[in-house]
Amino acid sequence: MSEEFVLLEPEDQPGDEWEELDVSDTEADRIARRQDREFSEFRERVKNTEQFKLQESVFDDATLAAVYKLVQDGYVDAFGGPVSTGKEASVFEALGGEAGERPEPGSAAANEEYAREVAVKVYRINSSNFRQMREYLEGDPRFEGIANDKKAVVLAWTKKEFANLNRARKAGVRVPEPIAVQRNVLVMELVGHADDRARRLSEVDVENPETAYEVVREYMRRLYRAGLIHGDLSEYNMIIHDGELVVIDMGQAVTVHHPNAGDFLARDCENVAAFFTRQGIDVDGDDLRAYVTEPEPDPSGDPDA
Ligand SMILES: Nc1ncnc2c1ncn2[C@@H]1O[C@H](COP(=O)(O)OP(=O)(O)OP(=O)(O)O)[C@@H](O)[C@H]1O
Ligand SMILES: [Mg+2]
Repeated sequence: MSEEFVLLEPEDQPGDEWEELDVSDTEADRIARRQDREFSEFRERVKNTEQFKLQESVFDDATLAAVYKLVQDGYVDAFGGPVSTGKEASVFEALGGEAGERPEPGSAAANEEYAREVAVKVYRINSSNFRQMREYLEGDPRFEGIANDKKAVVLAWTKKEFANLNRARKAGVRVPEPIAVQRNVLVMELVGHADDRARRLSEVDVENPETAYEVVREYMRRLYRAGLIHGDLSEYNMIIHDGELVVIDMGQAVTVHHPNAGDFLARDCENVAAFFTRQGIDVDGDDLRAYVTEPEPDPSGDPDA
């Protein structure tokens, strides 16, 4: 990694992305139930492709219906191979459809040839971490009253990742641009390209760790000032492409009002500090936390205000 890191400039301050959540019965569930001819054909076609055979356990009928809906709505044109298979979710490369927002003009992703690539993250409803997910959702004012069943929790989680990505982006944190969410399926900007993968910070030789650290702590501070704590930040949830550091995996991010917010932030700071310490930088978790939580300077400039 030879390029300099570039800090993204913050846009306008974020509002509250709280939205009414109806996770009981989605359009995708209705499509799956109806099993009309078009959906049945789509399902059979998809089920015969290699990618789907490899990932069969991810794609129950309602998940397939969510993908079908995303195709119909113009967010996805064609599925590519899996990028990652985790316990909670699998990530795929795909071709984005007409409806997806184009990447920022001037950004690397705006390169014509690649402009339509997207990442599709599919959460498993039968996630083994269901109980842990609930703990993150409880205490988040945006998700009060979510029913206590797996499907509702995973659907709320998917929506939460979408909302968190939006909020982070508005706060000037470089994250994948969220494009669409449908049931347990999230479509976002693919960082890097199918033939030129973005890599985890853990996988690269960080040539300029000082600058990388400064970017990370600035992003953590911006996130915090926007009312969010990542909650699983480490060298495994930051990816690098074209000299740009991108924070990913925001499903578990909580607002600063969460009862465990302080612990989550302390853990994030410890993880990040430990990684950069190994890169030869003199940092510790407490200093990082102090930096992240430092009160914003008063814009009026009056120190007594
Ligand atoms: N928008 C994206 N662009 C490019 N690659 C991505 C994107 N989102 C995820 N990935 C890749 O997929 C991997 C898993 O994504 P993510 O961390 O969001 O899911 P996860 O459920 O936490 O998986 P894991 O348990 O493996 O961490 C990432 O480490 C990264 O390599
Ligand atoms: Mg991850």
